[in-house]
Formats: sequence, C-alpha cells, structure tokens
Amino acid sequence: MIDAKEYLKKMSAELDGPIKSYIGNEEPPNLMDASKQYPYAGGKRMRPAMAVACCGAVGGDRSKAVPLAVAIEYIHNFTLIHDDLMDGDEKRRGMDTIHVNYGMPTAVLAGDALFAKAFQIICDLDIPAEKMREVLRYVSQSVWDLARGQQMDVNNEGQIVTEDVYIETIKLKTSVLFAAAAAGGAIIGDADDATVKAINEYALETGLGFQMYDDYLGVAGDSSKTGKSVGNDIRKGKCTCMITHAIRSIKDPAVLEEFKSILGNMDATDEQCARAKQILEEAGSIDYALNLAKEKVENAIAKISGLPEGEDKEFMIALARYAIDRDV
Ligand code: IPE
Ligand code: IPE
Ligand code: MG
Ligand code: MG
Repeated sequence: MIDAKEYLKKMSAELDGPIKSYIGNEEPPNLMDASKQYPYAGGKRMRPAMAVACCGAVGGDRSKAVPLAVAIEYIHNFTLIHDDLMDGDEKRRGMDTIHVNYGMPTAVLAGDALFAKAFQIICDLDIPAEKMREVLRYVSQSVWDLARGQQMDVNNEGQIVTEDVYIETIKLKTSVLFAAAAAGGAIIGDADDATVKAINEYALETGLGFQMYDDYLGVAGDSSKTGKSVGNDIRKGKCTCMITHAIRSIKDPAVLEEFKSILGNMDATDEQCARAKQILEEAGSIDYALNLAKEKVENAIAKISGLPEGEDKEFMIALARYAIDRDV
C-alpha cells in the first residue's frame, strides 16, 4: 500500500526543481522575494502531485503534466497570499505571511504576479492546441470559481449558514483547484471525456473532505505542526459544518449562549477558543464533521473505480485518504 505522505515527499523532490525555475532575479527584488516565499518554502504539494498522477493513471506520460502541476501550485500559492491577507492570518508554513513580511501592497502584487506566471507556465505544455484550450478552460474557470468561493467565505463570516451553503462555499474556494489539477492532468494524458469527468468528480469530492478536515485542524490542530494559527476561524466566526452542527445540537441554553459569545469574538483568548473546541467535542460536532469528511473521501474513491489498476491510481486513493488523515 502506498504511504501518501512518503510518496508526496518523493514527488515534491521531483517537482521542486521545476517549481523554483520560473522566478529569476528581476527588479524589484522585494516583489521577487515576496513571490518566491511560498513556492520555495514548499507545502504538501498535493495539487501538483494530483495533476501528475491523474495524467499517469489514464495512461499518459507523467512528465508531460509537469508544467500544469507547477502552474497549479503557483495559482494555489497566489490564492494563499491573498487568503492570508483577507483572513488577517500571520503564520503560514511556519513562517510569517507575505503581508506581514512585505506589507499589503506587495502581497497583492506578489499574488497577481504568481497568477500571471501560472498562465505563462501553461504555455510550456507540449500538447495539441485543442487540448491546450481545454486545459485553459478548466484552469481559468477554476480561478473564477475560487474567487466566488472566497467571497462567499467572507460573506459567511459571523453568519450561521446552512450546511449546503458551507459545502457550496468550500467546493468553490477549495475543490475546484484540485479538480483543475486532476482533470487537467487527465486531459494531458489524453483521457476520454467520461474519464475526465470521473477524475474531475474524484477531485471535487476529495477537495470537500480536505477542506472539512482543514477546518477541523483550524480548531483542533497543533499550530506547531500545521504552521498556521489555530483558533482564528473561531474568532472570525467562520461558519463550518462543525459550527452548524453545534448550533443545532447544543441543548443547554447556557452552553449555547457561551458558545455564541466566543464565536466571532476577535478578542477571544486562547482559553476561550479551547473552551469552544471542548463544546464542539461535547456536542459531537467534531465527530460529525470528521465523518462527513470521510464520506466525501469514500465518494471520491468510488468515482475512480473504473480506472485501470496501477501505482498512479493507488496514489490517487492514498492521497484522498491522506486529505483527511494528516497533522499538517
Ligand atoms: C491550504 O492548502 C489552503 C486550503 C485550501 C485549506 P494546503 O493545506 O494544501 O497548503 P500547503 O500547500 O500544503 O501549504
Ligand atoms: C483556503 O481557505 C482557501 C484558499 C486559499 C482559496 P482557508 O482560509 O480556510 O484556509 P487556511 O486555513 O487559511 O489555509
Ligand atoms: Mg485562510
Ligand atoms: Mg480563507
């Protein structure tokens, strides 16, 4: 059985070179440094690994998907820079975030620069024009949808939205980029339409589980491992499926009142955030969210049952399971 974490390390080693080859020493240096920080620091590299594996899983030449993989990682890193700015978060990958290090204007520009660079990198794909158009359609649509999802995420702050709205939000802000990586990889691998669709759905479902688990880590994770601040989602009143579950399940009005007083309180102390986590645990909301995430991942795996057996498919399955079984 493939160990996704180990396999990701191996794939990261292969992808790091190409990822670092696209930003040179142009002027001005502060924009170059800001643009390099996240791509060079490395993250889990789940999306680029998915692009390469999906290309291989449909019988394609994995190396042909590398420019797409790199482009998707650049887009991901661009969204992280803007996301940290929007969320007011100060830690990412164990480091100070870009706006903290370089200021807001440079963070906005570094995000824009990485976004532009991604499309330049896509030009390096060695595929027929018709396929190039298909890949571009997927990738550009995903960034459009991601912006919609991020806006919904911000609009939802401080609101108690339904679980359906939460799921639609995370599909748009998170799943669609996984889907562009996966479907793009399959297109490059010359998969037929039905296979591209199945792989797209696999990635969408994986992304849902991934984000649900990420929201769990945002409340219950260890920031020394995730490299991100823990508790801020509570302070900002981000409405996740744990929160909606708790609001509908807490029976004791005093506990509900206490919970609501912590939620969305930017001045909540670490102790109050820990208390909110305890309330979520006691209400069964954490188990509920983890089970829902598991359901999404099992759906994801079912979507690719028709793919031929092999290492790439095995990795796709392991990657989906890893999305909801990680501490970073
Ligand atoms: C973080 O994504 C942003 C979300 C969509 C939750 P990752 O957890 O994949 O971040 P890195 O790339 O590993 O740092
Ligand atoms: C990340 O959303 C989604 C994107 C970056 C598009 P979050 O705000 O929930 O993720 P983290 O916790 O900052 O990584
Ligand atoms: Mg964030
Ligand atoms: Mg956010």
